[in-house]
Amino acid sequence: MKVKGQDTRSIWVDEVGLGVVVIDQTLLPHHFATRRLESLDHAAMAIRDMWVRGAPLIGATAAYGVALAMNEDDSDHGLHEACRLLVAARPTAVNLAWAVEEMHRLLSPLIPSERQHAAYAAAAAIADEDVAINAAIGDHGLHLILELAKAKAGRPLNVMTHCNAGWLATVDWGTATAPIYKAHEAGILLHVFVSETRPRNQGAFLTAWEMANHGVPHTVIVDNAAGHLMQHGQVDLIIVGTDRTTAQGDVCNKIGTYLKALAAKDNGVPFYVAAPSPSIDFAMKDGLREIPIETRSAEEVTHIAGVDAEGQRRQVRLTPQGSPAVNHGFDVTPARLVTGLITERGIVAATEEALAQMFPDRVVG
Ligand code: MRU
Repeated sequence: MKVKGQDTRSIWVDEVGLGVVVIDQTLLPHHFATRRLESLDHAAMAIRDMWVRGAPLIGATAAYGVALAMNEDDSDHGLHEACRLLVAARPTAVNLAWAVEEMHRLLSPLIPSERQHAAYAAAAAIADEDVAINAAIGDHGLHLILELAKAKAGRPLNVMTHCNAGWLATVDWGTATAPIYKAHEAGILLHVFVSETRPRNQGAFLTAWEMANHGVPHTVIVDNAAGHLMQHGQVDLIIVGTDRTTAQGDVCNKIGTYLKALAAKDNGVPFYVAAPSPSIDFAMKDGLREIPIETRSAEEVTHIAGVDAEGQRRQVRLTPQGSPAVNHGFDVTPARLVTGLITERGIVAATEEALAQMFPDRVVG
């Protein structure tokens, strides 16, 4: 997608061909800066400290992390340790384990001297595949938007999204945003409600920045306004992303997604999940019981960061000193609340049968 009119991906290899460049997403929307990852430790830190975030981008960064590790130690031990370190960086998004396993599967049969070159090529293939998957999700979602827009008789279609499942969360296009970008490019009138997504504000900071950059009409809302807007007929469609969707269609995504799905059900608003196949975990069924939910620092709840009138970055405390806080990063929306999953192969019901029919090559056991 574009940054100041320039085609930009969220991750790329530098001119020398060894360093990996990412956008430091902790500084957006007020400051656009890139960081060069030069080692395995850098890559793990980038994922852990959320310079990069979003399930598909975490996966791509981990794949490049394995490549960076092969510059340092291309032995069997080096490969094994790199995979172990990267997988532990964040627990919830299955794309991380998927990408690392993919790298291990490709590299482990090779002799060490062949691994460095092969690792960069494999990571680039994972990144390119993500772009193709998201473009296909965009095409399928565009048909859905076209259908719903017909009923609007020339008025804008109101789409709501949560967190950032935009191009910043992937290598390009985004998942939930790909249909939005494609519809906007096709001249369909739409307006996006962007929910702020406390505590880290990925909606207010990142999705709003993306929408503004691409000229997509949008309004930022506090998370708690979503139900009210739905009750008043102001939301025609919800599209969110996913960090892990199980074989029976339970969807794990950023904390607060479940409440939106509940309100959507109560108000008859279609609730779709943009689910690239690397985010589908066919080894898990019961999302509520099986998916590991990341708990992050309480400081993300007790404090908030932004810029002051002079443009200086400031972090301020919100809560009384001494009030404990807890910070669960994700929640699980049961399949029964999901209208459909927008995958790269088409839109599918969130059921075990439908998913197995669409992805027979991925079914486990
Ligand atoms: O904690 P984050 O910012 O990594 O969480 C991101 C989300 O929950 C996204 O919705 C999800 O990863 C899908 S990204 C296409």
